[in-house]
Amino acid sequence: MHFDIITVLPELLSSPLSHSIMQRAKDKDLLTVEIHDLREYGLGKHRSTDDYQFGGGAGMVMRCEPLAAAIDALKAQREYDEIIYLTPDGEQYKQTRANRLSLGKNLLLICGHYKGIDQRIRDEYVTLEISIGDYVLSGGELAAAVLIDSIGRLLPGVLNDETSALTDSFQDDLLAPPIYTRPAEWRGHKVPDILLTGNFPKIEAWREEQAEARTQERRPDLLSKEDGAHG
Ligand code: ADE
Repeated sequence: MHFDIITVLPELLSSPLSHSIMQRAKDKDLLTVEIHDLREYGLGKHRSTDDYQFGGGAGMVMRCEPLAAAIDALKAQREYDEIIYLTPDGEQYKQTRANRLSLGKNLLLICGHYKGIDQRIRDEYVTLEISIGDYVLSGGELAAAVLIDSIGRLLPGVLNDETSALTDSFQDDLLAPPIYTRPAEWRGHKVPDILLTGNFPKIEAWREEQAEARTQERRPDLLSKEDGAHG
């Protein structure tokens, strides 16, 4: 799967995608990420990419021309499944969206800065707008990294244990059950007996029960979802 990212802060993105699972995915060529500096398409001597808001108001707006030039150049090279703008007023990002996006081939991510991008670019090019939560980041870069990480780890062959993505929190509208490793007793706290029995059907039933109890307690909204596995 291939990601193109358009940003005015390329440095912000290279580090979070260069470690652990993401780096392994890139090393195996299962994931390719290209970061494009919007400044290369900036206007004038100063390579400007933003300007004041029409109608007044605090904060700069990213101009149409540099963004359009960058997007056109990329669209000439690749066909995109989605052109995504990261923005706090977008669709709330969920695991189901990550699952669906992981089935695609090419995604283009546009990172906003300052007040955001001119509405006309959204109208003209963007096919999906995503928010990673009800808070405002200073730019879309960290949100883009969240998207790439959450999608990248779902690609076949990226995780060592292929089943482990399936048992993540949220995959069945359930939070994950508690997990334990050695030692079997630590500071007087014992690992639940059932996990030491080797009775895997029983262990599986226990995990499901724990997952449901944890979800009921912490995120009852997930259980009451009409289209969910438990609704
Ligand atoms: N850009 C700024 N804040 C954001 C958010 N919460 N989600 C996605 N992109 C953003």
